[in-house]
Amino acid sequence: MENSLHKYLQFIEVSVKEIAFPTKPVSLYQPMTYILDLGGKRVRPILTLIACEVFGTEFQRAKNASLAIELFHNFSLIHDDIMDNAPLRRGKPTVHQKWNQNIAILSGDGMLIEAYKLLHNYSPEISHSLAAVFNKTASEVCEGQQLDMDFETLNQVFITDYLEMIRLKTAVLLGCSLQMGAIVGGASKENQDDVYAFGMNLGIAFQLQDDILDLYADQAKFGKQVGGDILSNKKTYLLLKAFEDANSDQKEMLSQMISEKNPDQKIKLAKTIFAELNIREKAESKMNEYYELALKNLAHLKVDSSHKKPLQDLAEFLMSRQN
Ligand code: IPE
Ligand code: IPE
Ligand code: MG
Ligand code: MG
Ligand code: MG
Repeated sequence: MENSLHKYLQFIEVSVKEIAFPTKPVSLYQPMTYILDLGGKRVRPILTLIACEVFGTEFQRAKNASLAIELFHNFSLIHDDIMDNAPLRRGKPTVHQKWNQNIAILSGDGMLIEAYKLLHNYSPEISHSLAAVFNKTASEVCEGQQLDMDFETLNQVFITDYLEMIRLKTAVLLGCSLQMGAIVGGASKENQDDVYAFGMNLGIAFQLQDDILDLYADQAKFGKQVGGDILSNKKTYLLLKAFEDANSDQKEMLSQMISEKNPDQKIKLAKTIFAELNIREKAESKMNEYYELALKNLAHLKVDSSHKKPLQDLAEFLMSRQN
Protein backbone atom coordinates (compact mmCIF):
# COMPACT_ATOMS: atom_id res chain seq x y z
CA MET A 1 0.00 0.00 0.00
CA GLU A 2 1.15 3.55 -0.84
CA ASN A 3 2.78 5.65 1.89
CA SER A 4 0.00 8.23 1.66
CA LEU A 5 -2.42 5.55 2.89
CA HIS A 6 -0.49 4.29 5.92
CA LYS A 7 -1.94 6.73 8.42
CA TYR A 8 -5.49 5.57 7.63
CA LEU A 9 -4.57 1.89 7.76
CA GLN A 10 -2.79 2.36 11.04
CA PHE A 11 -5.75 4.24 12.50
CA ILE A 12 -8.13 1.46 11.43
CA GLU A 13 -5.92 -1.25 12.89
CA VAL A 14 -5.75 0.53 16.25
CA SER A 15 -9.49 1.24 16.20
CA VAL A 16 -10.38 -2.36 15.36
CA LYS A 17 -8.24 -3.57 18.29
CA GLU A 18 -10.13 -1.21 20.61
CA ILE A 19 -13.50 -2.77 19.80
CA ALA A 20 -14.60 -4.53 22.96
CA PHE A 21 -17.19 -7.22 22.31
CA PRO A 22 -18.71 -8.87 25.39
CA THR A 23 -16.83 -12.02 26.37
CA LYS A 24 -19.70 -14.46 26.89
CA PRO A 25 -20.94 -16.64 25.31
CA VAL A 26 -17.45 -17.27 23.98
CA SER A 27 -18.70 -19.10 20.89
CA LEU A 28 -20.78 -16.08 19.88
CA TYR A 29 -18.11 -13.41 20.31
CA GLN A 30 -14.81 -15.20 19.72
CA PRO A 31 -15.48 -15.76 15.99
CA MET A 32 -16.04 -12.00 15.58
CA THR A 33 -12.65 -11.22 17.09
CA TYR A 34 -11.10 -14.09 15.12
CA ILE A 35 -12.17 -12.82 11.71
CA LEU A 36 -11.38 -9.18 12.51
CA ASP A 37 -7.91 -10.14 13.75
CA LEU A 38 -7.18 -11.93 10.49
CA GLY A 39 -6.82 -8.45 9.04
CA GLY A 40 -7.56 -8.03 5.39
CA LYS A 41 -6.84 -4.96 3.36
CA ARG A 42 -9.31 -2.69 5.22
CA VAL A 43 -10.18 -1.03 1.91
CA ARG A 44 -13.69 0.04 2.83
CA PRO A 45 -12.99 1.75 6.18
CA ILE A 46 -9.99 3.48 4.60
CA LEU A 47 -12.32 4.82 1.91
CA THR A 48 -14.63 6.16 4.63
CA LEU A 49 -11.79 7.95 6.42
CA ILE A 50 -10.39 9.46 3.24
CA ALA A 51 -13.80 10.62 2.07
CA CYS A 52 -14.30 12.45 5.35
CA GLU A 53 -10.93 14.18 5.08
CA VAL A 54 -11.44 15.13 1.43
CA PHE A 55 -14.19 17.47 2.56
CA GLY A 56 -12.02 19.23 5.10
CA THR A 57 -13.00 17.33 8.26
CA GLU A 58 -10.42 15.44 10.31
CA PHE A 59 -10.59 11.77 9.34
CA GLN A 60 -10.75 10.59 12.97
CA ARG A 61 -14.32 11.87 13.10
CA ALA A 62 -15.32 9.08 10.71
CA LYS A 63 -13.98 6.37 13.03
CA ASN A 64 -17.33 4.85 14.04
CA ALA A 65 -18.74 5.00 10.52
CA SER A 66 -15.63 3.29 9.17
CA LEU A 67 -15.77 0.59 11.86
CA ALA A 68 -19.45 -0.02 11.10
CA ILE A 69 -18.50 -0.61 7.47
CA GLU A 70 -15.68 -3.00 8.38
CA LEU A 71 -17.96 -4.96 10.73
CA PHE A 72 -20.63 -5.19 8.05
CA HIS A 73 -18.02 -6.37 5.53
CA ASN A 74 -16.73 -9.06 7.91
CA PHE A 75 -20.27 -10.21 8.71
CA SER A 76 -20.91 -10.54 4.97
CA LEU A 77 -17.72 -12.58 4.56
CA ILE A 78 -18.65 -15.04 7.33
CA HIS A 79 -22.00 -15.70 5.67
CA ASP A 80 -20.52 -15.62 2.15
CA ASP A 81 -18.03 -18.33 3.11
CA ILE A 82 -20.87 -20.59 4.22
CA MET A 83 -22.76 -19.91 0.99
CA ASP A 84 -19.65 -20.46 -1.17
CA ASN A 85 -18.50 -23.47 0.83
CA ALA A 86 -15.11 -21.78 1.24
CA PRO A 87 -12.43 -23.38 3.42
CA LEU A 88 -10.00 -20.45 3.66
CA ARG A 89 -10.23 -16.76 4.43
CA ARG A 90 -7.22 -14.48 4.80
CA GLY A 91 -4.99 -17.54 4.92
CA LYS A 92 -6.83 -19.18 7.82
CA PRO A 93 -9.83 -21.52 8.20
CA THR A 94 -13.18 -19.82 7.64
CA VAL A 95 -15.42 -19.36 10.68
CA HIS A 96 -17.80 -22.19 9.75
CA GLN A 97 -14.82 -24.52 9.27
CA LYS A 98 -13.12 -23.61 12.51
CA TRP A 99 -16.33 -23.70 14.57
CA ASN A 100 -19.48 -24.78 12.75
CA GLN A 101 -22.21 -23.44 10.52
CA ASN A 102 -24.63 -22.45 13.28
CA ILE A 103 -21.93 -20.48 15.05
CA ALA A 104 -20.98 -18.78 11.79
CA ILE A 105 -24.58 -17.74 11.15
CA LEU A 106 -25.16 -16.29 14.59
CA SER A 107 -21.80 -14.59 15.08
CA GLY A 108 -22.32 -13.04 11.63
CA ASP A 109 -25.73 -11.75 12.70
CA GLY A 110 -24.20 -10.43 15.91
CA MET A 111 -21.55 -8.53 13.99
CA LEU A 112 -24.19 -6.89 11.83
CA ILE A 113 -25.95 -5.68 14.97
CA GLU A 114 -22.68 -4.36 16.40
CA ALA A 115 -22.24 -2.43 13.15
CA TYR A 116 -25.64 -0.77 13.57
CA LYS A 117 -24.85 0.28 17.13
CA LEU A 118 -21.83 2.24 15.95
CA LEU A 119 -23.95 4.47 13.72
CA HIS A 120 -25.54 6.02 16.81
CA ASN A 121 -22.33 7.78 17.81
CA TYR A 122 -23.19 10.85 15.73
CA SER A 123 -25.70 13.69 15.96
CA PRO A 124 -29.30 12.62 15.17
CA GLU A 125 -29.16 14.22 11.70
CA ILE A 126 -25.90 12.58 10.74
CA SER A 127 -26.91 9.20 12.23
CA HIS A 128 -30.10 9.35 10.23
CA SER A 129 -28.30 10.07 6.97
CA LEU A 130 -25.73 7.36 7.66
CA ALA A 131 -28.42 4.80 8.45
CA ALA A 132 -30.30 5.63 5.24
CA VAL A 133 -27.38 4.85 2.95
CA PHE A 134 -26.25 1.93 5.12
CA ASN A 135 -29.71 0.28 5.07
CA LYS A 136 -30.18 0.74 1.36
CA THR A 137 -26.75 -0.78 0.76
CA ALA A 138 -27.31 -3.71 3.13
CA SER A 139 -30.50 -4.68 1.24
CA GLU A 140 -28.67 -4.42 -2.08
CA VAL A 141 -25.82 -6.63 -0.87
CA CYS A 142 -28.38 -9.31 0.07
CA GLU A 143 -29.97 -9.00 -3.37
CA GLY A 144 -26.59 -9.34 -5.07
CA GLN A 145 -25.62 -12.33 -2.94
CA GLN A 146 -28.88 -14.11 -3.79
CA LEU A 147 -28.42 -13.42 -7.52
CA ASP A 148 -24.86 -14.78 -7.27
CA MET A 149 -26.21 -18.01 -5.76
CA ASP A 150 -29.12 -18.27 -8.23
CA PHE A 151 -26.71 -17.87 -11.17
CA GLU A 152 -24.65 -20.93 -10.08
CA THR A 153 -27.37 -23.24 -11.38
CA LEU A 154 -28.70 -21.08 -14.24
CA ASN A 155 -27.55 -21.99 -17.73
CA GLN A 156 -28.26 -18.68 -19.42
CA VAL A 157 -26.72 -15.68 -17.66
CA PHE A 158 -25.91 -12.54 -19.67
CA ILE A 159 -22.87 -10.39 -18.95
CA THR A 160 -25.21 -7.49 -18.19
CA ASP A 161 -26.89 -9.67 -15.50
CA TYR A 162 -23.47 -10.45 -14.07
CA LEU A 163 -22.48 -6.77 -13.99
CA GLU A 164 -25.69 -5.88 -12.16
CA MET A 165 -25.11 -8.77 -9.71
CA ILE A 166 -21.58 -7.59 -8.82
CA ARG A 167 -22.75 -3.98 -8.59
CA LEU A 168 -25.14 -5.16 -5.89
CA LYS A 169 -23.06 -7.71 -4.00
CA THR A 170 -19.81 -5.72 -3.96
CA ALA A 171 -19.70 -2.33 -5.63
CA VAL A 172 -22.42 -0.50 -3.70
CA LEU A 173 -20.56 -1.16 -0.43
CA LEU A 174 -17.53 0.74 -1.72
CA GLY A 175 -19.85 3.55 -2.80
CA CYS A 176 -21.54 3.47 0.61
CA SER A 177 -18.19 3.55 2.45
CA LEU A 178 -17.26 6.73 0.63
CA GLN A 179 -20.66 8.35 0.96
CA MET A 180 -20.73 7.71 4.71
CA GLY A 181 -17.32 9.35 5.06
CA ALA A 182 -18.55 12.25 2.95
CA ILE A 183 -21.65 12.64 5.15
CA VAL A 184 -19.53 12.85 8.30
CA GLY A 185 -17.21 15.22 6.44
CA GLY A 186 -20.10 17.57 5.63
CA ALA A 187 -20.08 17.15 1.84
CA SER A 188 -22.83 18.59 -0.39
CA LYS A 189 -25.32 16.16 -1.90
CA GLU A 190 -23.69 16.59 -5.30
CA ASN A 191 -20.27 15.69 -3.93
CA GLN A 192 -21.77 12.74 -2.03
CA ASP A 193 -23.20 11.46 -5.31
CA ASP A 194 -19.85 11.85 -7.05
CA VAL A 195 -17.87 9.94 -4.42
CA TYR A 196 -20.56 7.27 -4.40
CA ALA A 197 -20.31 6.89 -8.19
CA PHE A 198 -16.52 6.74 -7.92
CA GLY A 199 -16.82 3.96 -5.35
CA MET A 200 -19.38 2.04 -7.35
CA ASN A 201 -17.32 1.96 -10.55
CA LEU A 202 -14.18 1.21 -8.57
CA GLY A 203 -16.13 -1.57 -6.85
CA ILE A 204 -17.13 -3.15 -10.16
CA ALA A 205 -13.47 -3.08 -11.22
CA PHE A 206 -12.57 -4.51 -7.80
CA GLN A 207 -14.94 -7.49 -8.17
CA LEU A 208 -13.70 -8.17 -11.72
CA GLN A 209 -10.20 -8.26 -10.25
CA ASP A 210 -11.45 -10.56 -7.47
CA ASP A 211 -12.81 -12.96 -10.10
CA ILE A 212 -9.51 -12.87 -12.02
CA LEU A 213 -7.48 -13.47 -8.86
CA ASP A 214 -9.77 -16.31 -7.86
CA LEU A 215 -8.33 -18.38 -10.71
CA TYR A 216 -4.92 -16.82 -11.37
CA ALA A 217 -3.59 -15.69 -7.97
CA ASP A 218 -0.60 -17.28 -6.30
CA GLN A 219 -2.04 -19.55 -3.57
CA ALA A 220 0.73 -18.53 -1.16
CA LYS A 221 -0.29 -14.86 -1.39
CA PHE A 222 -4.03 -15.11 -2.01
CA GLY A 223 -5.42 -16.22 1.35
CA LYS A 224 -8.49 -17.85 -0.25
CA GLN A 225 -8.80 -21.15 -2.11
CA VAL A 226 -7.56 -20.56 -5.67
CA GLY A 227 -10.09 -21.92 -8.16
CA GLY A 228 -13.02 -21.75 -5.73
CA ASP A 229 -15.26 -19.94 -8.25
CA ILE A 230 -14.66 -22.64 -10.88
CA LEU A 231 -15.41 -25.41 -8.36
CA SER A 232 -18.80 -23.91 -7.51
CA ASN A 233 -19.67 -23.04 -11.13
CA LYS A 234 -19.84 -19.32 -10.35
CA LYS A 235 -20.98 -17.31 -13.34
CA THR A 236 -17.99 -14.98 -13.25
CA TYR A 237 -17.05 -12.61 -16.04
CA LEU A 238 -14.37 -15.12 -17.05
CA LEU A 239 -16.81 -17.97 -17.58
CA LEU A 240 -19.51 -15.88 -19.24
CA LYS A 241 -17.04 -14.24 -21.62
CA ALA A 242 -15.62 -17.67 -22.46
CA PHE A 243 -19.10 -18.93 -23.38
CA GLU A 244 -19.70 -15.80 -25.43
CA ASP A 245 -16.48 -16.13 -27.44
CA ALA A 246 -16.26 -19.93 -27.73
CA ASN A 247 -16.72 -21.84 -30.98
CA SER A 248 -18.90 -24.95 -30.89
CA ASP A 249 -16.05 -27.28 -29.85
CA GLN A 250 -14.99 -24.91 -27.12
CA LYS A 251 -18.61 -24.57 -25.94
CA GLU A 252 -18.71 -28.35 -25.65
CA MET A 253 -15.49 -28.30 -23.59
CA LEU A 254 -16.93 -25.60 -21.33
CA SER A 255 -20.03 -27.72 -20.71
CA GLN A 256 -17.80 -30.67 -19.85
CA MET A 257 -15.86 -28.46 -17.47
CA ILE A 258 -19.11 -27.39 -15.74
CA SER A 259 -20.08 -31.01 -15.09
CA GLU A 260 -16.54 -32.22 -14.22
CA LYS A 261 -16.43 -33.66 -10.68
CA ASN A 262 -12.67 -33.99 -10.13
CA PRO A 263 -11.54 -30.62 -8.68
CA ASP A 264 -8.00 -30.53 -10.13
CA GLN A 265 -9.23 -31.70 -13.51
CA LYS A 266 -12.01 -29.10 -13.52
CA ILE A 267 -9.67 -26.19 -12.76
CA LYS A 268 -7.14 -27.42 -15.31
CA LEU A 269 -9.80 -27.66 -17.98
CA ALA A 270 -11.08 -24.15 -17.25
CA LYS A 271 -7.56 -22.73 -17.47
CA THR A 272 -6.93 -24.46 -20.78
CA ILE A 273 -10.08 -23.15 -22.45
CA PHE A 274 -9.67 -19.67 -20.95
CA ALA A 275 -6.08 -19.52 -22.26
CA GLU A 276 -7.22 -20.41 -25.77
CA LEU A 277 -9.74 -17.59 -25.66
CA ASN A 278 -7.49 -14.98 -23.94
CA ILE A 279 -10.06 -14.67 -21.21
CA ARG A 280 -7.73 -13.27 -18.57
CA GLU A 281 -6.73 -10.36 -20.84
CA LYS A 282 -10.37 -9.72 -21.75
CA ALA A 283 -11.37 -9.62 -18.10
CA GLU A 284 -8.51 -7.24 -17.33
CA SER A 285 -9.62 -4.95 -20.09
CA LYS A 286 -13.21 -4.93 -18.74
CA MET A 287 -11.78 -4.13 -15.31
CA ASN A 288 -9.81 -1.23 -16.75
CA GLU A 289 -12.97 0.16 -18.38
CA TYR A 290 -14.58 0.50 -14.96
CA TYR A 291 -11.39 1.83 -13.41
CA GLU A 292 -11.37 4.57 -16.06
CA LEU A 293 -15.02 5.37 -15.32
CA ALA A 294 -14.14 5.67 -11.63
CA LEU A 295 -11.31 8.09 -12.44
CA LYS A 296 -13.77 10.20 -14.45
CA ASN A 297 -16.09 10.36 -11.43
CA LEU A 298 -13.13 11.44 -9.32
CA ALA A 299 -12.20 14.16 -11.79
CA HIS A 300 -15.77 15.47 -11.57
CA LEU A 301 -15.65 15.80 -7.78
CA LYS A 302 -15.64 19.47 -6.78
CA VAL A 303 -12.75 19.64 -4.33
CA ASP A 304 -9.19 20.83 -4.73
CA SER A 305 -7.46 18.23 -6.87
CA SER A 306 -4.51 17.97 -4.45
CA HIS A 307 -6.97 16.48 -1.91
CA LYS A 308 -7.85 13.65 -4.28
CA LYS A 309 -4.44 11.98 -4.12
CA PRO A 310 -5.24 9.36 -1.43
CA LEU A 311 -8.31 8.25 -3.38
CA GLN A 312 -6.23 7.94 -6.54
CA ASP A 313 -3.56 6.01 -4.63
CA LEU A 314 -6.09 3.62 -3.15
CA ALA A 315 -7.73 3.00 -6.52
CA GLU A 316 -4.33 2.30 -8.04
CA PHE A 317 -3.40 -0.05 -5.21
CA LEU A 318 -6.61 -2.02 -5.73
CA MET A 319 -5.94 -2.54 -9.40
CA SER A 320 -2.48 -4.01 -8.83
CA ARG A 321 -3.16 -6.09 -5.72
CA GLN A 322 -2.35 -9.80 -5.43
CA ASN A 323 -4.89 -10.72 -2.78
C1 IPE B 1 -13.58 -9.74 -0.33
O1 IPE B 1 -13.25 -8.42 -0.07
C2 IPE B 1 -15.01 -9.81 -0.74
C3 IPE B 1 -15.32 -9.20 -2.03
C4 IPE B 1 -16.23 -8.32 -2.18
C5 IPE B 1 -14.59 -9.59 -3.21
P1 IPE B 1 -11.76 -7.95 0.22
O2 IPE B 1 -10.85 -8.43 -0.87
O3 IPE B 1 -11.76 -6.49 0.48
O4 IPE B 1 -11.41 -8.75 1.55
P2 IPE B 1 -10.41 -8.39 2.73
O5 IPE B 1 -11.19 -7.62 3.74
O6 IPE B 1 -9.25 -7.62 2.18
O7 IPE B 1 -9.99 -9.72 3.29
C1 IPE C 1 -18.49 -11.76 -2.08
O1 IPE C 1 -18.08 -12.08 -3.35
C2 IPE C 1 -19.25 -10.52 -1.90
C3 IPE C 1 -19.73 -10.42 -0.51
C4 IPE C 1 -19.13 -10.93 0.51
C5 IPE C 1 -20.94 -9.70 -0.27
P1 IPE C 1 -17.10 -13.34 -3.39
O2 IPE C 1 -17.79 -14.57 -2.92
O3 IPE C 1 -16.45 -13.36 -4.72
O4 IPE C 1 -16.01 -12.91 -2.29
P2 IPE C 1 -14.78 -13.81 -1.88
O5 IPE C 1 -14.01 -14.10 -3.14
O6 IPE C 1 -15.31 -15.02 -1.21
O7 IPE C 1 -13.98 -12.92 -0.95
MG1 MG D 1 -16.99 -16.05 -1.59
MG1 MG E 1 -19.74 -15.27 -2.83
MG1 MG F 1 -14.41 -13.95 -5.06
